Amino acid sequence: VSARSLEGKGPAAALRDTLRRDIANRPPGTPTPGLAIVHAGDDAGAAAYRRQLERQWLSIGGGLRVLNWPGDVPLALAEAALHDLSRDPAVHGVLVQQPLPPHLQAAELWRYLDPAKDAEGMHPVNLGRRWLGAHVPVPCTALAVSHLLVHHGIAIAGQHAVVVGRSSEVGKAIAHELLKADATVTVCHSRTADLAGLCRQADILVSAVGQAGLIGPAMVKPGAVVVDVATVAGPDGQLVGDVDPAVASVAGWLSPVPGGVGPLTVALLMNAVVYAARRGA
Ligand SMILES: NC(=O)c1ccc[n+]([C@@H]2O[C@H](COP(=O)([O-])OP(=O)(O)OC[C@H]3O[C@@H](n4cnc5c(N)ncnc54)[C@H](OP(=O)(O)O)[C@@H]3O)[C@@H](O)[C@H]2O)c1
Repeated sequence: VSARSLEGKGPAAALRDTLRRDIANRPPGTPTPGLAIVHAGDDAGAAAYRRQLERQWLSIGGGLRVLNWPGDVPLALAEAALHDLSRDPAVHGVLVQQPLPPHLQAAELWRYLDPAKDAEGMHPVNLGRRWLGAHVPVPCTALAVSHLLVHHGIAIAGQHAVVVGRSSEVGKAIAHELLKADATVTVCHSRTADLAGLCRQADILVSAVGQAGLIGPAMVKPGAVVVDVATVAGPDGQLVGDVDPAVASVAGWLSPVPGGVGPLTVALLMNAVVYAARRGA
């Protein structure tokens, strides 16, 4: 048996086409949606993601500003820049790329960004409002997981979803989206006892850790839906996920890496900025 592919390139391309049409056909006098990307330091993974995002965003006709800082950028300069972007009428969404250098990681930095321009849904105001059920920007990776499932016609309500990984940006955000979609959610992490036993109970297993081969075939219930969120450099430099390819012989569905969650994450970030521009952020 070989799992069906939860591929994300098709739905991502369809969403980009819709956004391209939205931008081209926007009402006269309304601004071009503007994205600002802020990054500091020289993380290779972040740079690759940024290049992909920039290329795709420009290809749909969006406006772009990139603030490219050295890793030792002064905190005051970063704060002032976010303050300016928040007031810039040509900017509707701001992506503050992770990882940030340690001296910028203070939650204080967020005080300078308008929550309405938080393209990723990671502003504490948006996190809090989402927790209370408000309609606010959602972390794009979490949204990508639920879109991928919905696109492929996979029912979420009433299913037991097991999420491996609990970072605020990824694991916890995914767990929250699945809970909102009426799954019963178990969250696992590095201190979980009997990870394999819990994973085997999952109807929907989502792995967001960053350890190639962590999820093996013996950890998957036959026929389960397996979503691999992780992106790790494999032994030959190629991109791989957490899930051992042999899982395809047990699972009913499996998302590829690359080509699964990743492309939809980028497309949904672009969607958030186009939507923010339409809303008048
Ligand atoms: N496809 C996309 O769009 C996308 C977007 C963002 C990130 N990612 C990828 O997703 C992965 C996770 O990213 P992240 O930012 O959440 O990473 P992170 O902050 O390092 O979090 C990793 C999580 O995995 C848990 N963990 C570590 N070892 C474990 C083990 N042996 N068993 C069970 N859980 C374990 C950690 O548990 P503790 O909390 O106990 O330490 C932590 O909660 C990375 O590969 C990243 O590149 C993909």
